[in-house]
Amino acid sequence: MSYKIDSLLIHGGIDGDEVTGAVNVPIYQTSTYKQDGLGKNRGWEYSRTGNPTRAALEKLIADLENGEYGLAFASGLAAIHTVLSLFKGGDKLVVSDNIYGGTFRILDNVFKNLDITYKIVNTSDLASVEAALDPDVKAIYVESPANPLLTITDIEAVSKIAKKHGKLLIVDNTFLTPYLQRPLDLGADIVIHSGTKYLGGHSDTISGLVALKDKALADRLYYLQNAIGGVLAPWDSFLMIRGIKTLGVRMDRHVSNAGKIAKWLSESGYVSKVYYPGLPSDPGYEIQKKQASGAGAMFSFVLDEKYDYKVFFESLKLISLAESLGGVESLVCHPASMTHAAIPAEIRKSVGIVDELIRFSVGIEDVDDLIEDLIQAVEKSKKA
Ligand SMILES: Cc1ncc(COP(=O)(O)O)c(C=O)c1O
Repeated sequence: MSYKIDSLLIHGGIDGDEVTGAVNVPIYQTSTYKQDGLGKNRGWEYSRTGNPTRAALEKLIADLENGEYGLAFASGLAAIHTVLSLFKGGDKLVVSDNIYGGTFRILDNVFKNLDITYKIVNTSDLASVEAALDPDVKAIYVESPANPLLTITDIEAVSKIAKKHGKLLIVDNTFLTPYLQRPLDLGADIVIHSGTKYLGGHSDTISGLVALKDKALADRLYYLQNAIGGVLAPWDSFLMIRGIKTLGVRMDRHVSNAGKIAKWLSESGYVSKVYYPGLPSDPGYEIQKKQASGAGAMFSFVLDEKYDYKVFFESLKLISLAESLGGVESLVCHPASMTHAAIPAEIRKSVGIVDELIRFSVGIEDVDDLIEDLIQAVEKSKKA
């Protein structure tokens, strides 16, 4: 029997403990496993290579993304590092033009040193994607919605282009999670998550997850996971499984709050621009509606020039100024100096990550309290 996503969130992966009947997967806090004789083990040898708590989470993310294989890492960037290690010197990647700053940093300052280079492309423009695919390009790397401008890429259309040219399609699905969008079903080869965000959901765990369908690619990734070693610890794997159980109910509230606040803000006179693919006026609206079951709860906005964004940040009371996103509490951040500071200023400006841009991770608090907090902070930030 195949379960729907709301049941899979709770019963997917390895459901509880077969030995004791415990409804939760135990935390196997062990680095090694006793072997019954030379070459005779019980399926576990060493916890970098495999750990039952991590394996339960790995099976869970595979189930949720409708994949066959899952991998769990110590952070989203450890996951990205391992996936990018599929490539070798001389290979190129085509990368969405607004991606998480840390993804840009590892491409620009780590993999470029190994001669694995990248081309930045507006992946919402399919003609530009196709035009960028020279023989050295081995993969297309997309975030949709992208961080921080929420640009939408048509994943299915890009996957068709990728297949036509024999390239891999890698999608970072952090912003929507498999509850709202399943890139493997849209033709992606590899899905990556910063599990730190909505999947964990409580701003208490750093983690990264990968899901895919192809066995040969998965075997290579398991090899790299063990060889590089950036694995998720058993306790953190448990916290991830625990967080994922409530993903559906959290996401419903996140998306509902974000939709209401983005609409209110866009009509408030306080902002010159709102980037949110859930607004019918947004250029990505139709495509995100086609490929996802909700627009997510991240949006960005530019305060009107009448207001001082630095004072705005300092005046918020309920909403915190902080890095990260996807937790139950509302957070705002300043991409230009925080999450996207690793991107050179000229690239930032050219793609629209201006100094006045504010990114909002809408939490699950009472929506009226959130709006009130925004109003009082904007009013306090009015320039003299
Ligand atoms: C879209 C996206 N991908 C990847 C990452 C990196 O994940 P982590 O911070 O868990 O290493 C982040 C972090 O903010 C992110 O927003």
